[in-house]
Amino acid sequence: MSNDFRLFMTQLLKRPHQVVALAPSSEGLAREMAARVDPEDGPVIELGAGTGKITRAILNRGLPAEQLHSIEMNPEFCTRLCDRFPGLNVHQISAGDIGALPVENAQAVISGLPLLSMPVALQHAILTGTVAKLRPGRDYVQFTYGPKPPITSAVRNDLGLIWETSPKIWWNMPPARVYRFRQNITPTGPTG
Ligand SMILES: C[S@@+](CC[C@H](N)C(=O)[O-])C[C@H]1O[C@@H](n2cnc3c(N)ncnc32)[C@H](O)[C@@H]1O
Repeated sequence: MSNDFRLFMTQLLKRPHQVVALAPSSEGLAREMAARVDPEDGPVIELGAGTGKITRAILNRGLPAEQLHSIEMNPEFCTRLCDRFPGLNVHQISAGDIGALPVENAQAVISGLPLLSMPVALQHAILTGTVAKLRPGRDYVQFTYGPKPPITSAVRNDLGLIWETSPKIWWNMPPARVYRFRQNITPTGPTG
């Protein structure tokens, strides 16, 4: 068993309501989550980084570690992230406090959070903070194991979110799909 898998399992047993997954994301899922990161397009915010599977995929796109801000509330996972990724900005806070990050104009927010198992008020705080940190029209990327969009309809409607989905990634436990949400911004044309 790898060190990461052991740490993940220990934390899953200790904090099941926070971890809410059978295993860390597979490399295939992590690659799909990070697929549109452009190393020259500014900062990226990651939510719920865990042992760093998606963190690594984001950095493998060529993004400098200093441009990646990873939020993770579990202290043991934060220690692992700091040890593993020199230069990475690790924030040991709740994703609901994303608004406090010293980052503006992010190119993407990439989330491994168990969003649907969170109270609607927390989902709302996370997505409102996300929209404020993103450049207009940019993506909030979230995976899910289930058949429904991983943001509750009340929050999607309130923030005017539209989305596209990836093909199902079967090589993951359990199989998952990636959703890319963004605000539906209608361009304003000339008037009169
Ligand atoms: C399903 S695991 C995903 C871990 C990793 N991103 C991956 O894909 O393997 C969910 C992660 O979100 C973290 N988490 C849960 N609630 C959180 C919150 N409110 N704020 C920040 N992190 C949270 C957990 O500690 C855990 O590391």
